[in-house]
Amino acid sequence: MVNTLPQPEVKPGIKAPAKETVLTPRFYTTDFEAAASLDLSAQEKELQAMLAEMRADYNRHHFVRDEEFEQSWEHIDGEARRAFIEYLERSCISEFSGFLLFKELSRKLKQRSPLLAEIFQLMARDEARHAGFLNKAMGDFKLSLDLGEVTKVRTYTFFPLEWVLYTVYLSEKIGYWRYIIIYHHLQKHSEHQFYPIFRKFESWCQDENRHGDIFKALLRSQPQLWNNWRSRLWSRFFLLSVFATHTLTVHERASFYHLLGLEPTEFDQQVVRNTNETAGRAFPVMLNTEHPHFFPRLQNCSNYNLKIAEISRSSSNKVVKFIRKLPLITAILWNLLLVYLIKPIDTEVLRGTVR
Ligand SMILES: [Fe+2]
Ligand SMILES: [Fe+2]
Repeated sequence: MVNTLPQPEVKPGIKAPAKETVLTPRFYTTDFEAAASLDLSAQEKELQAMLAEMRADYNRHHFVRDEEFEQSWEHIDGEARRAFIEYLERSCISEFSGFLLFKELSRKLKQRSPLLAEIFQLMARDEARHAGFLNKAMGDFKLSLDLGEVTKVRTYTFFPLEWVLYTVYLSEKIGYWRYIIIYHHLQKHSEHQFYPIFRKFESWCQDENRHGDIFKALLRSQPQLWNNWRSRLWSRFFLLSVFATHTLTVHERASFYHLLGLEPTEFDQQVVRNTNETAGRAFPVMLNTEHPHFFPRLQNCSNYNLKIAEISRSSSNKVVKFIRKLPLITAILWNLLLVYLIKPIDTEVLRGTVR
């Protein structure tokens, strides 16, 4: 399922891409034949409306580096600089991953599904802007990613189309909530607005919201993705995977959130709650985030993950490290299993009733 190519050589001013782990954003490929054969008739009207919105291109003039960017950023130094560059890199890779997948889908569907091909092409346009804007921000810190090189050397993971529909939907919606929560927080606490990119997040997140709505229409056009027990189990699985990854990465990068004046645990929980609530409109279930064990168990996973990271940084040899990590990995999996087993909320029953 996974192909790995040789590592890139390091060039001056070009940042060597961060090491890939289970938690780093990945590049995906999928079953293009299945995508071309999708019967979209159940959501044709919604998709045509989304296409019209995408064509309108509301953010055409949004991603402009105005004069606020034109200054030296040397005063952001030490740990703050490292944490911020890491945030920019991770965000850039994740936007670029969306670009590559959408571009490829658009190319492969051109002949057989022109409606989808155009939608994917317009989503690729947005993601290219987002990735490019983040990469230019990295340039302000005298580093940038060679995205052409990254395309060649990164691992591509194959996901069946159904998994792509669930996970991209969730990643667009969680992206929306992450951007908008940071934006609103900085509106209220401008003393933490240490770099102008955050001012761009309000309109930026609307792109992600639209992308999410397109994936919602695709999901709802396929009844087998929400009207049976298997789809309920998959939905729970993907919701939990995306939320657990979020909790772990936010706590791993706590110093970045402190820079913004955000409390990492609070930020994480707010993002997870909102994304879960939103996902209830597309998925047959949502998770019970208010269950007394839900967040505490995710927090346990995050604490174990931080211990694992500490072991990785230690000087012990590989075997010793692995033996020390094993009980922690088991504890993470056990906690995730217990969260998975918390009874979810049936959203199909709620649908149609006023919430
Ligand atoms: Fe994006
Ligand atoms: Fe997006």
